[in-house]
Amino acid sequence: MVPADQNTSHSNGPLDAALESLLGMARQAALHSYAPYSGFRVGAALRLTNGETVTGTNVENVSYGLTICAERAALVQAVSEFGPQIRVEAVAIANLNEAASPPCGACRQVLAEFILPEAPVVFPAAGGMRVMPFSALMPLAFEMKLK
Ligand code: THU
Repeated sequence: MVPADQNTSHSNGPLDAALESLLGMARQAALHSYAPYSGFRVGAALRLTNGETVTGTNVENVSYGLTICAERAALVQAVSEFGPQIRVEAVAIANLNEAASPPCGACRQVLAEFILPEAPVVFPAAGGMRVMPFSALMPLAFEMKLK
């Protein structure tokens, strides 16, 4: 039988220093989370190919569906600050709940617009921190190719 996580890699040992530092920024961002409804405090940090780093956190709303995830908040911040030519080369996700926190499907689709396929994404998973290339997390993003 093919293991379900064949294309993933676990990071049980120390992360490389650059990802560790990105994760620290994600944790800092999670401190700003506005999550009165779920209590789930998420932070995301994006490293861009221009050398800049941008963070975001989740912002909930009493009309639950209007909630903005940390990853999308960070991406919108990156484009707002540096323009539409940005490319994301690494992502770190943290939560303050010590819970698994992979990026949701909507955030994967939104990241797909600006991220390099090989960009490492580090996130808290059931067995500890996990690092996966974005292309393994989102193998078949929606594309709109007109004939
Ligand atoms: N959340 C994120 O920030 N990122 C995700 O990828 C999934 C969920 C937030 C939204 C909401 O505030 C809380 O986590 C619970 O769903």
